[in-house]
Amino acid sequence: MRVLVTGGAGFIGSHTVELLLKKGHAVRVLDALVPPVHLAGRVPEYLPQEVEFIQGDVRDRSAWEKALAGVEAVFHLAAYQDYLPDFSKFFHVNAVGTALLYEIAVERKLPLRKIVVAASQAVYGEGKYACDHHGVQYPGLRTAEQLAAKDWEPKCPVCGMPMKPEVTDEPVVRPHNSYAMSKYSQELIALNLGQRYGLPSVAMRYSITQGARQSFRNAYSGALRIFVMQALAGRPLTIYEDGGQLRDYVYVGDVARANLLVFEDDRANYQTFNVGGGKAYAVLDFAKIVREVTGRNVPLAVGGEYRFGDTRHIVSDISKLRALGWEPQGSPAQSVAEYVEWAQSQPDFRNYADEAREYMQAVGTVRA
Ligand SMILES: NC(=O)c1ccc[n+]([C@@H]2O[C@H](COP(=O)([O-])OP(=O)(O)OC[C@H]3O[C@@H](n4cnc5c(N)ncnc54)[C@H](O)[C@@H]3O)[C@@H](O)[C@H]2O)c1
Repeated sequence: MRVLVTGGAGFIGSHTVELLLKKGHAVRVLDALVPPVHLAGRVPEYLPQEVEFIQGDVRDRSAWEKALAGVEAVFHLAAYQDYLPDFSKFFHVNAVGTALLYEIAVERKLPLRKIVVAASQAVYGEGKYACDHHGVQYPGLRTAEQLAAKDWEPKCPVCGMPMKPEVTDEPVVRPHNSYAMSKYSQELIALNLGQRYGLPSVAMRYSITQGARQSFRNAYSGALRIFVMQALAGRPLTIYEDGGQLRDYVYVGDVARANLLVFEDDRANYQTFNVGGGKAYAVLDFAKIVREVTGRNVPLAVGGEYRFGDTRHIVSDISKLRALGWEPQGSPAQSVAEYVEWAQSQPDFRNYADEAREYMQAVGTVRA
């Protein structure tokens, strides 16, 4: 089958491309090669030669028209990400870009057999908790006052008492930043227009994805790349809050397999799936894994800073995807090891994390 992968020059995209090629599909990539993810305009060396590459932006109708000609399926992974306060750009790229895909598909009656869109665990915001007195709760964003007082744990919206974090399943979302809202808009566009116009669509809510090729030039988010850059530079690892935030980390090879599974299995059509690592880690424990794997015994800088808008705990319930026969296989230690090996083989690898943090401090995202 001829398949289009938008964002195929990126991290998850390139691993998905490789798996598609391995399964005998012909792959076309549409990617704008945006800095700082890429060195301006340069196709990364890891993209296989047999890929048909189109440089173009998903906000541009003519780029979509060219890229969609003759394809039977689309993985739509191109996106604007991270934490910067250029709110409108998230919606232009992530929501409007996706609407254009469906607009062209409907207008031209394209025979698309599957559209898989990259959603995100970020749509859950603070996620799911249990209060001893009031049962399951989905609290809102922690307030600036609460965070400034270093009072990290979300409280029950009914009684104000502390709650226990639970694994978050798919039905309830509460996106609270521009990225998450734009990603949820993308899901709504894909699943609703897909269903209405008979374009089988699936939304994949990835947890924090890790492994080789995650761009180190874009150091605004991603504990793996930030900790690895800091550790290899002999710098302290910056741990926001108290490091007790729970996360699940999923290996990029497992994400690529999940993408292929829903592409091949029609039971997935018109549905949303969590794609996670299946196990909770405190950020502090993940930092220790990075120290162990890199062999750099750098200090852990805990508690000095926090990121306004961050989630306290978020761990995905992956039982829905498991029921289709998928199981995560990689571990955080494996992801770290593969990332370190790849990053060190890159000529321009250096520590970009400190300047990214300074920028986020300047725009008020990182606070002391
Ligand atoms: N990496 C994660 O942990 C994670 C978690 C949840 C969701 N996601 C989603 O998965 C997808 C892939 O993420 P990734 O980590 O591989 O990111 P990435 O930055 O490595 O790759 C994204 C690619 O999209 C391209 N791109 C960006 N804007 C574009 C535009 N306007 N037009 C065309 N191409 C554009 C970039 O050049 C890049 O190659 C994204 O949709 C992201 O929101 C990622």
